[in-house]
Amino acid sequence: MERIKQAIEKVKKQRSSRSAGFAHSHLQSRDMKSTTHSLQNLDELEDFSYKYTRVVKLQTEHLEKHRIVAFNKNNVLSMNFDLLRTQVLQKMRENGWRTMAITSPTPESGKTVVAINLAMSIAQQTNYSSMLVDFDLRRPKVATYLGISLEKSLNDFLDGTAELPDVLVSPDMPRLVVLASKHPVKKSSEILSSNRIAELIKDLRERYESRIVIFDLPPVLVIDDALALLPQIDCVLMVVANGTSTKREIEDSLRLFPAAKLIGVVFNKAEAETMTDYYY
Ligand SMILES: Nc1ncnc2c1ncn2[C@@H]1O[C@H](COP(=O)(O)OP(=O)(O)OP(=O)(O)O)[C@@H](O)[C@H]1O
Ligand SMILES: [Mg+2]
Repeated sequence: MERIKQAIEKVKKQRSSRSAGFAHSHLQSRDMKSTTHSLQNLDELEDFSYKYTRVVKLQTEHLEKHRIVAFNKNNVLSMNFDLLRTQVLQKMRENGWRTMAITSPTPESGKTVVAINLAMSIAQQTNYSSMLVDFDLRRPKVATYLGISLEKSLNDFLDGTAELPDVLVSPDMPRLVVLASKHPVKKSSEILSSNRIAELIKDLRERYESRIVIFDLPPVLVIDDALALLPQIDCVLMVVANGTSTKREIEDSLRLFPAAKLIGVVFNKAEAETMTDYYY
């Protein structure tokens, strides 16, 4: 774990000596634009009442098998995600951020598990709603981990055969909406670089001020999908798992986007079963 923290410190130092002016001005402009995310009035919440969204049932046993715990306050591990939520929301509020990418240097770091738990935890914070978007088009896992069957999915939206309201689902939890894929797609990089995706991200970001949109992305060092998307998303949460990435890989992946966009790093699969540790 020390190795990972050292890698992050090294990249931070290098970047602050190389581009301190840029990072500073970037943050300043963000601060000026920052807005309060509390609900302006209840109409907005009403508007987000999933009138048009298909509600799907979740099964506790299935969720826990896939390490999805944030829905259950009796599960001690869910506290980790509530802590992460508090830190993430504070930083997003300060910077006027509403969209967050979750990625990692290499595969199998626990991105999808963190993304689902964090989206659930945010939805339980009554001032916010959350939307989880599965943009790991080649290995989509959100629907599998949640145990939801999709009639229409992100695949149909991307094919142009369905509109957004038809492909959203609401797990039976207030203020949480999911946009998931049913099956993997080829040519994911081209799709994710398309105007349709750019418009979708913009629309999801702008529609509700109190909504946090979380994008579950592939690892940054394996395919360029995440790189195509990162410029369009406000901030990046990096998930690093014990034993899955080398120090070099962590350093390389942190250099792929501006330092000012890094909201934090989650150390997953930490010692014993402690789940996650958070650092930025
Ligand atoms: N804290 C943890 N401790 C132990 N195992 C974990 C932990 N978090 C996730 N896992 C397990 O690691 C595996 C990979 O998790 P997950 O699918 O979330 O990773 P990912 O980074 O999204 O993978 P991919 O790169 O394929 O998208 C899963 O089997 C998951 O249950
Ligand atoms: Mg994943």
